[in-house]
Amino acid sequence: MAEEKAIAVKNLKKYFKRVKAVDDISFEVKYGELFALLGQNGAGKSTTIRILTNLAVPTSGYIEVAGYNVLKAPTNVRRNIGLVAEKIILYDNLTAMENIKFFSRLYGMKDSVIETRAESFLKLFDIWNFKDMLISKMSTGMKQKINLARALVPDPKIIFLDEPTLGLDPVSTKHIRDFIINLRKNGKTIVYTTHVLHDVELMNVDKVAIMRRGKIVAIGTLNEIKKHFKKAEIVEIETDVELSQSEINGKILEQEGGYMKVEVEDLNKFMKEITNLNVHIRNFKTLEPSLEDIYIEISEGGATGKEREDITV
Ligand SMILES: Nc1ncnc2c1ncn2[C@@H]1O[C@H](COP(=O)(O)OP(=O)(O)OP(=O)(O)O)[C@@H](O)[C@H]1O
Ligand SMILES: [Mg+2]
Repeated sequence: MAEEKAIAVKNLKKYFKRVKAVDDISFEVKYGELFALLGQNGAGKSTTIRILTNLAVPTSGYIEVAGYNVLKAPTNVRRNIGLVAEKIILYDNLTAMENIKFFSRLYGMKDSVIETRAESFLKLFDIWNFKDMLISKMSTGMKQKINLARALVPDPKIIFLDEPTLGLDPVSTKHIRDFIINLRKNGKTIVYTTHVLHDVELMNVDKVAIMRRGKIVAIGTLNEIKKHFKKAEIVEIETDVELSQSEINGKILEQEGGYMKVEVEDLNKFMKEITNLNVHIRNFKTLEPSLEDIYIEISEGGATGKEREDITV
């Protein structure tokens, strides 16, 4: 079995009567990659994750996780994965530690090992003092942290995180974000969904897939996606004299004295013309569109008409 692929999905479909929750998607995740799955509410992210983790059966398609066919060898798949699901998987009438023990024993772990690992995660997430509290008494954020610890204690190779920072305060969110970055540094494979696009940019993810109505409409590195969907170059330029719209080959978006923010169709042409004006350029920089700009462009149907065109690395 090809070991370099942590996940291989081919022509996956999941239809619920009239809803095409997942509509013929294919993608691969390599071992050690941090893969972000994005998309609006109802795009099909959680359904995809549920199928990959054997919690739901696909309508059709081929799925391999950790080298095993998910439908044919679900037990082998489960042994290699950890899941922080959208709906928190914890027993309300058990304590945090009891929950972690219950789920980790399913992986065949010894209690002493479970306890040591649980302690380190609960301390890391700043929730050790609540280890003996019933889940039913916990706040959403506390539950989410326990949920995360529960998924990580068995030390799975591949980790699925479906909105792991949902309901967490900004400090805890940063904590978890840093923690995910660390997991990746330690060689884990991570499939991660979130609506916090800024996090995706901060986390230096290896690959991003954007889903829309069950389909993957963009897939690639963050830079590839940005490049592909970028309509025009945004340039910031500072000159010693104020330039007027008629002098430059671009649309002035902002201007204050010699400072301008310009949308430029052809950067070379723009540069040549500016050079010919014989003005002194104090500062010049091209701005990257944010993931949010692109995401909104894609999700809303986009003005570029490029949104249905898949890009694949
Ligand atoms: N068990 C189900 N029965 C019927 N329809 C379902 C079921 N589960 C999901 N769906 C539908 O499938 C579509 C995709 O849902 P899914 O939960 O995968 O979206 P999502 O991308 O995770 O959204 P969110 O960002 O809101 O979590 C939605 O239209 C949803 O209503
Ligand atoms: Mg979801």
